[in-house]
Amino acid sequence: MVLTIAAVFGVASSWMSRERKDMLDEFSYEQAVLAQAVAIDFEQRLAAQRAENDGHTDALMLDEAVRSLLAGAHRLEHAHELMVLVTRPGQGGFLTTDRRLIPSTRLREALDRGDASVQVPRDEAATFGLPRRLAIAGLARVASTNDTSWGVVVLASAQRIRDRERHGWWRLGATTLIITAVVATFGAIAQRRQRTELELQRQIAISSLEREREALLAKADKMAALAALGTGIAHEVGTPLGVIVGRVDQVMPRVEKDERAKAALGIVLDQVARIQAIVRGCLALARGDAPHLDKTPPAILAERAAALVAHRFDHAEVILDVETTEGLPLVACEPSLFEQALVNVLLNACHATPRGGRVAMRVEERDDRVVFVVDDEGVGISDEVAKRATEPFFSTRREEGGSGLGLTIAREIVSHHHGTFTLAKRTGIRGTRATIAISRA
Ligand SMILES: Nc1ncnc2c1ncn2[C@@H]1O[C@H](COP(=O)(O)OP(=O)(O)O)[C@@H](O)[C@H]1O
Ligand SMILES: [Mg+2]
Repeated sequence: MVLTIAAVFGVASSWMSRERKDMLDEFSYEQAVLAQAVAIDFEQRLAAQRAENDGHTDALMLDEAVRSLLAGAHRLEHAHELMVLVTRPGQGGFLTTDRRLIPSTRLREALDRGDASVQVPRDEAATFGLPRRLAIAGLARVASTNDTSWGVVVLASAQRIRDRERHGWWRLGATTLIITAVVATFGAIAQRRQRTELELQRQIAISSLEREREALLAKADKMAALAALGTGIAHEVGTPLGVIVGRVDQVMPRVEKDERAKAALGIVLDQVARIQAIVRGCLALARGDAPHLDKTPPAILAERAAALVAHRFDHAEVILDVETTEGLPLVACEPSLFEQALVNVLLNACHATPRGGRVAMRVEERDDRVVFVVDDEGVGISDEVAKRATEPFFSTRREEGGSGLGLTIAREIVSHHHGTFTLAKRTGIRGTRATIAISRA
């Protein structure tokens, strides 16, 4: 702002001093013209005198010519503003119309140099009886009978120019002041508005940061609760599982000859082993242990997960299609855990799909990843629900017994495998798409 005002002031003052110089030049020119006119008049008077005296001009005649010139010139004068001076050849001083003789080396030298005008400083102007201000002298030489010539000076005070200049400076000062006031006012308003905006942005940033932190805190809290719960349940489940295995081992020798009973007990042991694997995996998950990874064909994972939920789909009368491409790369995973993630996603798809509908699970390779896509023909999902779906205990199916943990567990398992999990409405078609992607082994 200060710079703007300084620039305005600088431009205006340079413009003013240029104007002042122009005015003085113009004034000097006018004085020179006036002096020239008086000199011509003087010349004519001298010529007339000479004609009357047969070409001779004696001192008395000359005096008469000067006297009549000064009387005529007196009418040109303005008191305290303009005066006419005459100087005789070889005379140092200058004769005023009221016959005073005032010396001036400045005017003498200027006349000798043949200058048309000269500036007379204020103190010197005062010696001529002009105001103590800069004065301008217009100079002209008059041809005389002698070799040396008479000089005519029209001396005028530049008071009016100075006054006009002073007014100009006042005007400039006032204008600068007004500009300063306007710029300062607008500047202050803009600054205040900017400050308010910045403050608002800061508040918004702070509150969104606070919200984010709050959400993280809530999530961490729920995850901790889940981990604690998981650990507790794992211990609780572990004990009866041990008992089951012990009892089956006890009973097994007694049904050695009954093939069907033996097969049934075998299935019981298999399923218990599976539960134990999941429990161990959950405990590892809860403790944040590094996963124990096996290189597994993804098609096997998809098919085993589909087999685990087949009876649920049958019961709901929903068709489950599994589509895998040939030659998919192996993935490094904990199979029983990873299958559980797929199971949870498939069960959600089954719940969302109406009777007679279809759920399709596709496994494909994309870049360096293996992607499991589960598409259903359900009601779809809003962005809001999709965003919150993996939150622990978030469920829109509470009445139907939803725990809100299925996708939390699925997401934890997937991130345990350094994979990604997304859930979104299908585009251009009814239903939801869940996508799990993990790196190839
Ligand atoms: N395939 C889907 N279609 C529509 N909504 C879904 C689907 N999968 C998950 N959701 C939504 O995500 C929520 C959370 O899922 P989940 O964690 O499995 O909990 P739950 O199934 O117990 O409700 C569900 O309540 C539901 O609102
Ligand atoms: Mg679920």
